[in-house]
Amino acid sequence: MNQTLNPVDHPIKGNLEVPGDKSISHRAVIFGSLSRGKTIVQNFLEGEDCLSTVEAFRKMGVPIKRDGTTLHIEGKGVSGLQEPLEPLYLGNSGTTSRLLLGILAGQPFHACLTGDESLTRRPMDRVSNPLREMGADIDGREQGKYFPISIRGGHLHPITYTLPVHSAQVKSAILLAGLFADGTTTVVEPVPTRDHTERMLPAFGGQILRKGKHISIRGGQTLEGTDFKVPGDLSSAAFFITAAALVPDSELTIEHVGLNPTRTGIIDILKQMGASIETEMTDKIGDEPVGTVKVRGSRLKGITISGEVIPRVIDEIPLIALAASRAEGVTVIKDARELRYKETDRIKAVVDVLGRLGANIKELDDGMVIEGPVALKGGQVSSYHDHRIGMMAAIASFISKDSITIEHASCINISYPLFFEHLNRFR
Ligand code: S3P
Repeated sequence: MNQTLNPVDHPIKGNLEVPGDKSISHRAVIFGSLSRGKTIVQNFLEGEDCLSTVEAFRKMGVPIKRDGTTLHIEGKGVSGLQEPLEPLYLGNSGTTSRLLLGILAGQPFHACLTGDESLTRRPMDRVSNPLREMGADIDGREQGKYFPISIRGGHLHPITYTLPVHSAQVKSAILLAGLFADGTTTVVEPVPTRDHTERMLPAFGGQILRKGKHISIRGGQTLEGTDFKVPGDLSSAAFFITAAALVPDSELTIEHVGLNPTRTGIIDILKQMGASIETEMTDKIGDEPVGTVKVRGSRLKGITISGEVIPRVIDEIPLIALAASRAEGVTVIKDARELRYKETDRIKAVVDVLGRLGANIKELDDGMVIEGPVALKGGQVSSYHDHRIGMMAAIASFISKDSITIEHASCINISYPLFFEHLNRFR
């Protein structure tokens, strides 16, 4: 499906509540399934990725009923999963793949995992290597580096593992496997990454110890079902926050959105570029801070982005590149090689899409350099079948001179099925 968006000639004004957080929705299904008793998840994200997680647990014998954004999970307890009868198809979801491998490493049965074309190109050795070290039997294409992967788990030994990549998915996979190990597993995280797993486990009665860069989990714990409300997804809100920051005279308020500090890099960076953004913490759901973000259109300037902030903004870098095309001066994005291992190579995709739209952008091995300000023209661009690239191109229509056509725009349903409905409110 191609989607054409005409340029917009007025400011973005109003309020918006975005759907539930993708990372937190995945984890709520996982912990609900591994708990004893009933879990009700509210404001669950109905995106395709999170539905892949639901389907995988159903295939392992967990009854999960979905009524729109509410899930009713009849948890099976930590040792209650069943051997799936057929391969688990995980669609486009890297998070489901990595986290599920961690859980399957602890199961005394066999499972086979596969996914769409993009998922079969994403590296899984980052989790299969440490999980093998713990005792799981894993094989797959190129010795278990790529899907399809087959895994037989059980009898795990605890390890202490220093993350070689700054990845919350890898950290979470090892911690989840640690739940099944015979002793205490420790992950050492040199640079902080999103910590939803650590924050959510205590809500299900689990224990996890965080001491500086060390995160430890004891095997053999039991988890108890609970009611859990998922906060709005800041990564979805980021599309509209960036649009409002770029369009003069805009005034946008986002409500009930997650403000976990391991996710708020986009706000810090846009502010550093000169954006007018105010945040207010209004609530806490479990251990997740939730609040309001108010944005006003402003003039932006180029900056350098590198180092520890990168994992806090990893999914929003395409938007920063878009903002940088309109900012005065040079923006340099470094230390972001991980972008090459996302749903598509996001360094190549961003440079291609923004370059076609007229931005002055150059590829680096681990990032990009953008020189602004330029007025983007329009044109036809590929989404690269990547939801975040498709949405970034759609947001570009707020600052382009001509219309923008996005190819394969339906991939946006991966994380934000209501995106075009929300976009049209401001067009
Ligand atoms: C996620 C972690 C990030 C992020 C992804 C979701 C998670 O991936 O890009 O969209 O839910 O743990 P990495 O941790 O692999 O960078």
